[in-house]
Amino acid sequence: MHLKLYRSARSLTKKVYDVKKHGKTIGLVPTMGFLHEGHMSLIRRARKDTDCVIVSIFVNPVQFGPKEGFKKYPRNFKRDFSLCKKENADIVFAPKAEKIYPENYATYVNVEKITDTLCGASRPGHFRGVATVVTKLFNITMPDIAYFGQKDNQQAVVIKKMAEDLNMNVRIKVMPIVREKDGLAMSSRNVYLNLKERMQAQSIYKSLKLAKELFDNGERNSGRIINKMKKVIDKQSEAKIEYIKIVDIKDLKDVKNISSEALVATVVWIGKTRLIDNVVIKTRS
Ligand code: PAF
Repeated sequence: MHLKLYRSARSLTKKVYDVKKHGKTIGLVPTMGFLHEGHMSLIRRARKDTDCVIVSIFVNPVQFGPKEGFKKYPRNFKRDFSLCKKENADIVFAPKAEKIYPENYATYVNVEKITDTLCGASRPGHFRGVATVVTKLFNITMPDIAYFGQKDNQQAVVIKKMAEDLNMNVRIKVMPIVREKDGLAMSSRNVYLNLKERMQAQSIYKSLKLAKELFDNGERNSGRIINKMKKVIDKQSEAKIEYIKIVDIKDLKDVKNISSEALVATVVWIGKTRLIDNVVIKTRS
């Protein structure tokens, strides 16, 4: 199939019915564009697993707070489209915001509790926006499998919970974080960093690796691990920690003493750029 662009939800759903009628499976990779290797890994996986790969490119206004840079979020549709072509995707869905949220739009999806912590605590309304747009994308594209990145771990947990709670007929696959050579997690926001900031951003993964090392060497106290991580990041002049937390991988509740597995999650501002990263630490079995 040649890569095809759809702007209209209705015509895409029509196409989806046609694909399904022929017994074919659908893989959805939801993105906000400005694609990088992390997105590519999701598209490649979808290509392996499913017959028809749909990549959505939509900078979702309702998941941005008023001062969270929706307008300045990086966009490059032409480049994104050719990257999707290169990875043999079948369909790019790139609707206009006013088609997704027409005037008088009134329906939102709210996943409770697990959205009160981590990024949800500092970005009120963010996951409501994510859950709403992902629900709409699921309804429009009816995917058998939808692909998300582990970098946005809380987002993946929220979407899994939403799919389970609302009996959505879709499998959620979460793919590993793809990193730059120096360890920085790939993100569309990395383009905001100047050279000095880019260097200092390395401290984020360094601190996460330290957490893993401490855990592997027997440390189980979250407070002590977090304090040591803070020291690595605080050395950087441009870095400001929004949070470092060690939480349960399922319910995202704080864990004081780690038993066999936990998620170490952090958000650090480097200059004006908000960077997110995490590692899972677990005992070897
Ligand atoms: O992770 C993202 O890029 C977005 O939050 C998503 C899932 C595409 C929803 O807008």
